[in-house]
Amino acid sequence: MVETKIWQVDRTERHLENNPMIIEAAEILRQNDVVAFPTETVYGLGGNAKSDEAIQRIYTAKGRPSDNPLIVHVASKDQVDAICTDITPLARKLMNAFWPGPLTLVLPKRGDISTRVTAGLSTVAVRMPNDPIARAIISVANLPIAAPSANLSGKPSPTLAKHVIEDLNGKIAGIVDGGATGVGVESTVLDCTTTPFTILRPGGISKEQLIDVVGLVSDDPALTRTDQTPKAPGMKYKHYAPKALMYMVPKGKETIQALVNHDKEHGQRVGVLTTDENVHRYLNADVVISCGERAQLSTVAHQLYQTLREFDEANVDVIYSETFPDEGIGQAIMNRLSKAAAGRIIE
Ligand code: TXA
Ligand code: MG
Repeated sequence: MVETKIWQVDRTERHLENNPMIIEAAEILRQNDVVAFPTETVYGLGGNAKSDEAIQRIYTAKGRPSDNPLIVHVASKDQVDAICTDITPLARKLMNAFWPGPLTLVLPKRGDISTRVTAGLSTVAVRMPNDPIARAIISVANLPIAAPSANLSGKPSPTLAKHVIEDLNGKIAGIVDGGATGVGVESTVLDCTTTPFTILRPGGISKEQLIDVVGLVSDDPALTRTDQTPKAPGMKYKHYAPKALMYMVPKGKETIQALVNHDKEHGQRVGVLTTDENVHRYLNADVVISCGERAQLSTVAHQLYQTLREFDEANVDVIYSETFPDEGIGQAIMNRLSKAAAGRIIE
């Protein structure tokens, strides 16, 4: 056990790069130790991407399999050229359109980072986050910062500092608490070494937004077929699984209510994952949690992981979840729900 420092920082503060807590966190990163901080998607656990020692600490703290590579975070476009090569004009176009923001690009790797970051691959994933705290820490540290989501491997990604404390207190040097993250699901991971570019993980930037800029993108076949091996090593893990058995129920309210009634008769503790529009319509369930407004899917993405953690605390045996349209941010929401449910769906 180490003592984990917790710093409260207001992300709206001006000149965050002069804030003594940001400077202390950045100094710890320069010493090759690890700290968690908010990004616009989820909290990340940062470490010096050039240091084998720092990267090892990240894998150890999370209990992460060493074959699952990390995303390198930068604060400026200049930093990117030191990390990757062969950046095509089309990849540059995406950087100009969406950075800083929730888009990770997989590009051919250059030598300047620890081989552990990329788990031996010849490519590296990079992104420029759009959270003022993340950007201040990275620029003060003046290093490329590898940062996976700051959860224990297999738990939902943290969207509040509280979640990072639950998972990593005593295992890391510090946590910058900047309040709730915005997007709530991770960045989109886009492989730019294929033609057309391939979505390896749907996330904060939608497929439609990418198509607007580059014309054509494909989906990794593993996103829709279970007999394919995903190209992003992290996507093959069962991730985000709540303790209860979860089922997606695309048919909606009446079917969910019938399932609840049946399970209650059999003495089960039952949870329903729903939306503001439907939260008052379920009877007899032990826990009914809304994860946002169906009419505005960004609110669902924002609260999804927190909702999954709440179900764990509620100790239910089974969770029935409404489903969402597979478009816009809905693609990322459905991808995460389907992982949480391990693909279980009641047609
Ligand atoms: O929003 C995010 O991306 C958050 C915040 C903290 O920035 N980070 C995050 O990192 O989600 P992580 O490590 O939890 O997920 C990284 C994903 C994994 O699925 C990993 O396998 C994939 O990106 N990945 C990393 N490098 C790759 C590479 N060179 N080729 C293919 N996939 C890669
Ligand atoms: Mg993760």
